Amino acid sequence: MKDLELYRIAENARENAYAPFSGFRVGAALLTTDGRVYTGVNVENSSYGATICAERTAFVKAVSEGERSFEAIAISAGEEPSMPCGICRQFMFEFAPQIRVITLPPAGGDPEDGLQVKRLEELLPDGFRLETGQST
Ligand code: THU
Repeated sequence: MKDLELYRIAENARENAYAPFSGFRVGAALLTTDGRVYTGVNVENSSYGATICAERTAFVKAVSEGERSFEAIAISAGEEPSMPCGICRQFMFEFAPQIRVITLPPAGGDPEDGLQVKRLEELLPDGFRLETGQST
């Protein structure tokens, strides 16, 4: 699947964001290595710290359906570029240190004119990993 196509899915998913407190709506589209796509949105809460980001929503949906292998994640916050927060970087690192993270470039603009693609390992060098000997 093309990066732009995945980004468009994230943009559409964003319509379901629940962000009454910040007004900052985020959509994510997570592509598995088998070609399946799981979407996610940020879901805020009256108890602010209970908020979950769009990226983690997508990962939790996928992992809870048995997915373990991921190729790319696209993140849309509308016109503004939005990079994954530190918690989401660590969360994704658990499953996919090399996942491609697709966003608008720092200057924003039309996604048709180009997207920014970075490996998670670039965004989170030396992420934490607890070796358990288990793979599930
Ligand atoms: N947010 C995300 O969904 N993903 C990120 O990586 C950054 C932040 C959400 C959380 C909160 O609902 C809103 O953006 C403002 O922080």
